[in-house]
Amino acid sequence: MTSTADSQWYYQKEEFYGTPSQISGLSFPVEKESRHKGIAFIMMVGMHLKLPQLTMATAALFFQRFYMRRSFKDYKYYDVAATCIYLASKTEESTRKFKDIVIACAQKAAKKDTPIDDSSKEFRVWKDTIIYTEELLLETLCFDLSVEHPYHFLLILFNHYQKDSQRGRKLKQVAWAFVNDSLRTTLCLTKSPKIVALAALYVAGKYLDENLSDSFGEFWRESYEPHEREIHEAAGEIMDSYLMTSNRNGRSLDKMPPGSKPGSEYQENGTPSYGGYLNSPAKLATPVYGMDPDRPTNGDRSMAP
Ligand SMILES: *[C@@H]1O[C@H](CO)[C@@H](O)[C@H](O)[C@H]1NC(C)=O
Ligand SMILES: *[C@@H]1O[C@H](CO)[C@@H](O)[C@H](O)[C@H]1NC(C)=O
Repeated sequence: MTSTADSQWYYQKEEFYGTPSQISGLSFPVEKESRHKGIAFIMMVGMHLKLPQLTMATAALFFQRFYMRRSFKDYKYYDVAATCIYLASKTEESTRKFKDIVIACAQKAAKKDTPIDDSSKEFRVWKDTIIYTEELLLETLCFDLSVEHPYHFLLILFNHYQKDSQRGRKLKQVAWAFVNDSLRTTLCLTKSPKIVALAALYVAGKYLDENLSDSFGEFWRESYEPHEREIHEAAGEIMDSYLMTSNRNGRSLDKMPPGSKPGSEYQENGTPSYGGYLNSPAKLATPVYGMDPDRPTNGDRSMAP
């Protein structure tokens, strides 16, 4: 599915150790943390503005791509994240006013409860920053603004669902939530949207104990088998993002409340939506990694080879 025009945006995992940020002296964990903060900012502002999911996904993708070519040392993550929101909302025609985006970014960056005044200095500074950064962002993205997301492929997959529709809805909801949460990872830099969709469905199937060959018939076998290794890698990264979040919050997976609320995933504490669903990780046949003990891990392998 990866076209030639697209392939400049797909990376090998090793390449995450030679990014502009690291060449400029930042460490791998610092870069990783900055990516997380940027995506969290995008989600927080996006939720506040009630942006469509696709717009947030596009903004997240622009953000991840930008920092494969620029350093966090030179460009502050919130400036770039804010600009990604603005550019994505233009690209996806979300029709949010520039002014409202500026206000939301300034308000959330300052962690204020009330909107900032559009005649304030703060407003002007943010406005100028976004205008200035937009040019740089466009150039860095090579004006390549048409992107695909896993959601579309997930819908295609579900056209082939063969079991009763209620069961299908549940499976789709869980798979959708895993795709939602995958936006927090760098999966969009290593795997095509189709692989991410298949991986999200694979993890959802494990979680709900559903035999996908049974539920999707021949179609599952045909979609899954040729990409088995990639799907397992992607599924592993989706899973790892939960482990990472729980480590950071000083919680273990089994202490997470099962069935956390859909739509609550992008709150400020950064807890992914279906973390709670994963309270029995043993159920998931976690794929085996070629772990290199010299790589930074910290229980955090989503960017590590
Ligand atoms: C899943 O379903 C397929 C097809 O019905 C069957 O061949 C396979 O054994 C099942 N797998 C498991 C783990 O139950
Ligand atoms: C996915 O995210 C969107 C927007 O953040 C939210 O409205 C939706 O409920 C989420 N879906 C699931 C299944 O969590």
